[in-house]
Amino acid sequence: MTQPIKNVMIMGAGGLFGTEVLVALQREDVFNLSILSRKSSKSLLPPGIKVEKVDNDYPLDQLLNAFQGQDALISTLPCSSYTVHLRMIDAAIRAGVKHFIPTEYGNNTCTTAAELVTLYEAKAKIAAYLRSKEITGLTWTAIHTGQFFDWGIGSGWLDYHLEEKRVMIYDSGDKMWSTTNIGTAATAVAKVLLDTEKTKNKALTIRGFVHSIAAKGS
Ligand SMILES: NC(=O)c1ccc[n+]([C@@H]2O[C@H](COP(=O)([O-])OP(=O)(O)OC[C@H]3O[C@@H](n4cnc5c(N)ncnc54)[C@H](OP(=O)(O)O)[C@@H]3O)[C@@H](O)[C@H]2O)c1
Repeated sequence: MTQPIKNVMIMGAGGLFGTEVLVALQREDVFNLSILSRKSSKSLLPPGIKVEKVDNDYPLDQLLNAFQGQDALISTLPCSSYTVHLRMIDAAIRAGVKHFIPTEYGNNTCTTAAELVTLYEAKAKIAAYLRSKEITGLTWTAIHTGQFFDWGIGSGWLDYHLEEKRVMIYDSGDKMWSTTNIGTAATAVAKVLLDTEKTKNKALTIRGFVHSIAAKGS
């Protein structure tokens, strides 16, 4: 029987998605939350939550120190330098952390997709590393949400250019595709930590809804 997750540290809690994850975790009202941030950070972090500061390059000894006593780590960091993420996994194992949620929250980063889309390469390497470390007892959950729908519309990422009243339609426009609002994706992260016995060592696919330009979705 897995012990409930109590002490949770979020890395990147002042960022686009981390801000939402923090709110979703607070809403559950069962976690002792803390934040890992860089010494150079300009992020606006909410008051009343413990913040551990580390050097910009996330050195191992400082990570080890910061991770002491944590049950779970949630990474909502950018994926630019994947070796930092591997170092965090190593530090988590050495500090006795039980569960790790890597920075995924997008499309499926299975090997085939990673071969096609270079953006996914780093995430696929991190997921493979977590799998290779299961033997140590560290468990993990990767959460695939598809694109964030509300954020994608507002930011132009989904090629909806509202001010210009212009939309780019990919393919025929009648293909169904799944997507998730950013708050729903954050809720999924919090819910995963409520039952790590069920969610451990899995890549979970989350969807808010399925739709197309032409067809009604579910
Ligand atoms: N599905 C989607 O549509 C979608 C959309 C956007 C993002 N995502 C995914 O969500 C995850 C988080 O992305 P995000 O956009 O939320 O991240 P972000 O806002 O760019 O950064 C999150 C935090 O990471 C820390 N950080 C560490 N190194 C950094 C660096 N070199 N530059 C900037 N910040 C750095 C900062 O925290 P401190 O200042 O506290 O150190 C920052 O607030 C990624 O895996 C991304 O691919 C998915």
